[in-house]
Amino acid sequence: MAEAPTKPVLLTGAAGNLGRMLARELAGLGWTLRLTDIAPFPDPLPPRAAFTRMDLADGVGLLRLAEGCGAILHFGGISVEQPFGTVLGPNVQGLYHVYEAARREKARVIFASSNHSIGFHERPQGNEAKIDVDCAFRPDGYYGLSKAYGELMGRLYWDKHGVENVNFRIGSCFPEPTEARMLSTWLSFADLVRLTECAVTAPRSGHCVIWACSDNPASFWGRDHRDRIGWQPQDSAEAYRARVGQITSGNPVIERYQGGSYTAIDYTRGKPSARDAFDLD
Ligand SMILES: NC(=O)c1ccc[n+]([C@@H]2O[C@H](COP(=O)([O-])OP(=O)(O)OC[C@H]3O[C@@H](n4cnc5c(N)ncnc54)[C@H](O)[C@@H]3O)[C@@H](O)[C@H]2O)c1
Repeated sequence: MAEAPTKPVLLTGAAGNLGRMLARELAGLGWTLRLTDIAPFPDPLPPRAAFTRMDLADGVGLLRLAEGCGAILHFGGISVEQPFGTVLGPNVQGLYHVYEAARREKARVIFASSNHSIGFHERPQGNEAKIDVDCAFRPDGYYGLSKAYGELMGRLYWDKHGVENVNFRIGSCFPEPTEARMLSTWLSFADLVRLTECAVTAPRSGHCVIWACSDNPASFWGRDHRDRIGWQPQDSAEAYRARVGQITSGNPVIERYQGGSYTAIDYTRGKPSARDAFDLD
């Protein structure tokens, strides 16, 4: 276990599923946290934590909240597929506010990106190669598009301003896998906590992108920048195969692509009936 960061750490999306879990676990590791969300924080405040209710639209408020922080864990915003206009404010403008605050504080940004930024890559079959983090973005909706934008914002702020950032391309972070796809994409809560610890406490990160999934033998994903921050996942979805391995959608679009059900939302291209139905990428 690394030493707790010497400066406070700001956590956006603190009232969300992952935010609540991180607030509890990171406070348990002795971290000093500043929590924020547009929704009220539903739990008792952990030790050394303060909560401020705020919209990511409030750029000045975020500048103030980030004062003196060494890192910003950015888990707030729209976390599922929504219409473009709903995603735009929190995930694009709000992200800009987070990066401007990080730039002023020389803080590192840890960004909760998503597999949905690359969801239209096909799932590898048999011995087919797994994709690496430098694969092309293939977002599977406006939500995934906003995550690709977020990663590129990190690229820009590192290249232009030296703002370090670690982008977690989160697969499916839930207490347990609930369907066959999650045998590939599941990230355990404990692995996310360890990943966050490594991302914040690594001496240097630059701009890096990590496939945030547990040590799943059925993973879709190959190389990333985990060595730079010293992270290795310790859990595996494989133990759940007997329970969830038969749970599939029966929808050929969903089963073909890595993003699963998100790829089929408002899908108008026509359903591929066979794997080679679309020759042109
Ligand atoms: N859970 C997963 O498996 C998973 C997978 C991929 C990516 N992610 C990303 O991880 C992050 C956390 O996911 P989660 O499952 O906890 O989602 P969540 O929806 O439970 O949490 C997101 C939080 O952001 C807050 N929020 C929304 N709009 C806001 C605004 N305008 N201003 C301030 N706060 C706002 C919400 O109130 C909510 O508490 C999200 O960015 C999500 O996209 C999660």
